[in-house]
Amino acid sequence: MGTYDFTTLPERFSTNATKWQETVKDPEVLPLWIADMDFQVFSEMTQALEAFAKRSVFGYDSPKPSLYQAILDWEANEHGYRFDKEALILIEGVVPAISVAIQAFTKENDAVMINTPVYPPFARTVKLNKRQLVTNSLQEIDDRFEIDFEQLEKDIVDNDVKLFAFCSPHNPGGRVWSIVDLQKVGDICQKHGVILISDEIHQDMALFGNKHHSFNTVSENFKNFTIILASATKTFNIAGTKNSFAIIENEGLRQQFKERQLTNNQHEISSLGLVATEVALTQGKPWLEELKPLIERHISYVYHQLTEKTKIKVMQPQGTYLIWLDFSAYGLDHKALQEKIRYEAKLVLNDGLTFGEEGRNHARFNVAAPTTIIEEAVKRLVDVFGK
Ligand SMILES: Cc1ncc(COP(=O)(O)O)c(C=O)c1O
Repeated sequence: MGTYDFTTLPERFSTNATKWQETVKDPEVLPLWIADMDFQVFSEMTQALEAFAKRSVFGYDSPKPSLYQAILDWEANEHGYRFDKEALILIEGVVPAISVAIQAFTKENDAVMINTPVYPPFARTVKLNKRQLVTNSLQEIDDRFEIDFEQLEKDIVDNDVKLFAFCSPHNPGGRVWSIVDLQKVGDICQKHGVILISDEIHQDMALFGNKHHSFNTVSENFKNFTIILASATKTFNIAGTKNSFAIIENEGLRQQFKERQLTNNQHEISSLGLVATEVALTQGKPWLEELKPLIERHISYVYHQLTEKTKIKVMQPQGTYLIWLDFSAYGLDHKALQEKIRYEAKLVLNDGLTFGEEGRNHARFNVAAPTTIIEEAVKRLVDVFGK
């Protein structure tokens, strides 16, 4: 028995949890999609938010110096990344920060590149901002995603790419990029004057002994053209409190980003988010340390069960609590496959096609839920897709 309760399924109906909306309509449906966790946070977080509620005054709050210090300490201690406080910019979300960066550093019709498959808001944000979307396909080699660097450079040159939005660690593949991969990505961007957004929101969920490298720790030069985006929200299950941060060491880029943030009136942060982030980063580590082995067990369980008992190809993630499942062996039409998952297995997984064309016949499975839920979900997949 650990210190924290990862076995009780929290009641998520009364809070109108996005993840559980389909279950409200059909009580038999199990949701394993959107990236939040069906786990309670640690008690210090609840106490801090109770104290927040007891203030009974909820006006605008300015970020405390101790919040900035908490982020600086977390980055230094967890990721060996040290930078000046001036480089740090708070913003309500990583996805909003991607919009701000695209607007700040590119203009209409400029080419913006992403690797596909990838977290759906990447492509959406590029398109809605009327930039030209350039997709560079990840290659599936030895059961994990790899970057085809030759093709990446060719795509940059052929399309005159101005900005590359990179996901590290990678969602949906759970790839924790090696230092060699990051060095190559950075070298290519530097060579061609491409600005790099490194979305590192999953940085604290490197698993199975893999190590996440913050992009700017790979080379001093990379600090000149890189925007790091991260937050405590994914790691500590506080995504609804809305608070994240950008680290921009290059002063010129930082000013451009801040100006655009102000143009969009996105410079004020939720008071609740300010509190939650500081508590997470200063008091959340023991909870995270206990959570990670559980996520590893869930991933191994899903991998072994589905590999033995079905024809689903399971990509074993090196990080994140997300698993990329390939159902191609069934030869089903994509829509028919998604309906089979939803109506026969009665599961809500993320539809693979929302991550890009490479996601045809795929789905993404979120294992951040009590073990009983994961076992039941696997049983349903085996029942419907068994060999
Ligand atoms: C890669 C990635 N970036 C960003 C986000 C969401 O960021 P935010 O809620 O801070 O906008 C997610 C959520 O799953 C994600 O997986």
